[in-house]
Amino acid sequence: MKRLLNLGLLLIIVLTFFSCKNQTGSDVTIGFLIHSTTSSRWQMDISYVEERAAEVGATIILKDAGGDENMQLAQANELLEMGVDALIVVAANQNTAAGIVREAHDYNVPVIAYDRLIKNSDLDYLVSFEYERVGELMVEYVADNVENGNCVILWGDASDANAVFVKKGHENAMNLLKKNNIKTVYKTFIEDWTYENAYHQMNTILDFYPEKIDAVIACNDPLGIGASDALREHGYKPGEVIITGQDATLEFVHSMLDGGITMSVGKPIKELAYGAIDLVVKIVKEEETSSFDKTVNNGRKDVPAKLFSPYIIDETNFEKILIEGDVFTRDQVFIDN
Ligand code: BGC
Repeated sequence: MKRLLNLGLLLIIVLTFFSCKNQTGSDVTIGFLIHSTTSSRWQMDISYVEERAAEVGATIILKDAGGDENMQLAQANELLEMGVDALIVVAANQNTAAGIVREAHDYNVPVIAYDRLIKNSDLDYLVSFEYERVGELMVEYVADNVENGNCVILWGDASDANAVFVKKGHENAMNLLKKNNIKTVYKTFIEDWTYENAYHQMNTILDFYPEKIDAVIACNDPLGIGASDALREHGYKPGEVIITGQDATLEFVHSMLDGGITMSVGKPIKELAYGAIDLVVKIVKEEETSSFDKTVNNGRKDVPAKLFSPYIIDETNFEKILIEGDVFTRDQVFIDN
């Protein structure tokens, strides 16, 4: 009887240990912390991440911080307590997310920064895009399409490393604008990268700046659409101003077909999502992770990085890349037909 009791006790201890280690019973359990899910760019990431995880038999536990960096830290703690094997993080704030890395390492859990770098931390990996190149492509496009005139620059949120990289890309290519005699009349970061903030900011610029605007270098699609709507309200005609964007969302395509944003810098989001999941599975299974051919300095260390290349999408190639490339269906794109 005593032996039976001891065996029972042992069983309970073993079961408790395993349920603490990993509550999902899957081979690999990944905590996916995302800063916010409101924009359609991130909806694409989530569906690709979930799709790839299902294919390779990994479990994803998704937490949306709703734009709140403190909430994201609390969510990280919750996932670590649950016993996840790794954290993939889209940082709500490039600086404070260092706390997530510290916390995870206390649990011996690796952290992969997804799309957005986490600064000043012992971050394990970065899977992202060449964001300086994103900025260069925007400026090159404007220089190729505007002979001379006035330009407004709307950067993303200053607490996001990507906004800073894109800005650096603009600076790298600025001489192209100067060559064309394009004057930058106003430049500013836009909080939270939102349509509303860009729309409001652009309206204010147009109310106070008397001369004609010929180009807006907006750093993502919501900012470009916000700028485009403000320009329309100030009497500009469809297609009159060259406007950039980023992410090649469905909203971008609709805006472009309506004479709003002229181009968007597209990025292979599916490759990013699949790459992140494949990496995590390799790390957890302690296999070779050879695809990390670059490093990005985060202020504390050179973080091993995989960076995918961006490309321009405009009216000349959107059907080929976005429809033939199976990102959107023809019906989603041409809603009026
Ligand atoms: C990403 C952009 C995105 C923006 C706002 C940035 O970190 O690089 O693709 O549009 O966040 O969500």
